[in-house]
Amino acid sequence: MAKLTLSLSLLPTLSLIARTASIVLPPINTTFATIDSHTPNLAPRVPGHYPCDCYIVSGDEPGYFTDYKFWDFRDVRLPHSLNSGAYRPSYANMWEMETIPLSQTSFKEDWQTQSWSRQETTDSTVPMVNDDANAFFAKHPNLPAASQLVLRTTRFPTHSSSAEVESQHGNYFHASIRVRMRLMSREAISRRPWDTAPDVNVVPKGACAGIFTYRSATCESDVEFLTSDPPNTIHYANQPDYDTEHDLIIPGASEVVTTVPVPWSDWVTHRMDWFENQTLWYANDDLQAVVSLSVPDRPSILAMNLWSDGGMWTGDMEMDESVYMGIEWIEVAYNTSTAGDMPVETGQRHRMRPSKRTRRDPHEKRQTSGHEARERCEKPCYLDKMQRY
Ligand SMILES: *[C@@H]1O[C@H](CO)[C@@H](O)[C@H](O)[C@H]1NC(C)=O
Ligand SMILES: *[C@@H]1O[C@H](CO)[C@@H](O)[C@H](O)[C@H]1NC(C)=O
Ligand SMILES: *[C@@H]1O[C@H](CO)[C@@H](O)[C@H](O)[C@H]1NC(C)=O
Repeated sequence: MAKLTLSLSLLPTLSLIARTASIVLPPINTTFATIDSHTPNLAPRVPGHYPCDCYIVSGDEPGYFTDYKFWDFRDVRLPHSLNSGAYRPSYANMWEMETIPLSQTSFKEDWQTQSWSRQETTDSTVPMVNDDANAFFAKHPNLPAASQLVLRTTRFPTHSSSAEVESQHGNYFHASIRVRMRLMSREAISRRPWDTAPDVNVVPKGACAGIFTYRSATCESDVEFLTSDPPNTIHYANQPDYDTEHDLIIPGASEVVTTVPVPWSDWVTHRMDWFENQTLWYANDDLQAVVSLSVPDRPSILAMNLWSDGGMWTGDMEMDESVYMGIEWIEVAYNTSTAGDMPVETGQRHRMRPSKRTRRDPHEKRQTSGHEARERCEKPCYLDKMQRY
């Protein structure tokens, strides 16, 4: 078979290569197609044995990524409730006993739960406390025998308890990030897959969920979901999108889309493509926003959070209310750069971001595979043409 060598000068011919290269891939297993739609397909989209040299995503921006990772949260073994014999709690409470914190699973090797906190300010009236207990695995409310990663935020009388999960690695440098997630009310997450009653999901107002890359307050891309917004509204931004000195939105750094075809109260694959000169956001493969201003230009961490601080951005939650962010999986095709050796900046003031961050682990693992040196891509894999999830 002819060797395909991708170099920058060949990039305009990618579509031709796409057709040729698909022959290189082993055939997609047809057994997946016969499984009934309620059974999750637990295989990663790009199985480990596929001989991929690089990963190409759909969309206009040319370019390929050298690395790929898929974290599947649907197959985590959960503890059985030990209390069920002693008394009979309602199912609404029982599912919370059959959970395991993220920090007690092997996923902690790649994802670290945050526990920093932030005092109230003139802008945000409620102290916010990130708690390790707010990132955990639980039963999936809609898929039998499946699990999900859950981020939770709860409004207590004295503070808001919130969740943030950050990648251990801070060397992501350009990436296509996909997160399959749903924002849920307590009622929706307490549901059992076989319940026949309607899947009501009225998410309490006052919380913000985010998926983002982060290096500093001025080097960040994010997608944010405000539960005070209608569920078809999503905020997409490269930071800073706000000029605090002049109290002005920076034109062109962000887009608020109010017509996203799928609501964040349903399971949706949210995708953020971070390229050299552009950030693009998709919801279930539909392009929603493109921003070319303030594109992050330094290696970064990946992160997800769910929080509330009573401020202008999130609003305030009602006492004792909780919002849940269920995540089925995270998939990322990415490049790395060792220029990210210095730790992620701490102590930055940010309108939407915490002002205090935990110091990063000084023993942070680094990739030493020398991907920067690899210039050829002989066997590309096409992320958006692979088997269904
Ligand atoms: C595809 O199916 C064959 C035959 O059933 C099996 O041996 C192989 O492991 C499957 N491959 C994947 C990727 O599931
Ligand atoms: C990823 O890295 C490869 C190898 O250095 C480079 O050729 C490619 O353009 C990079 N992709 C993006 C999207 O920046
Ligand atoms: C990004 O923009 C810079 C400056 O305009 C340009 O030199 C470079 O070729 C662009 N990169 C891509 C991948 O378009």
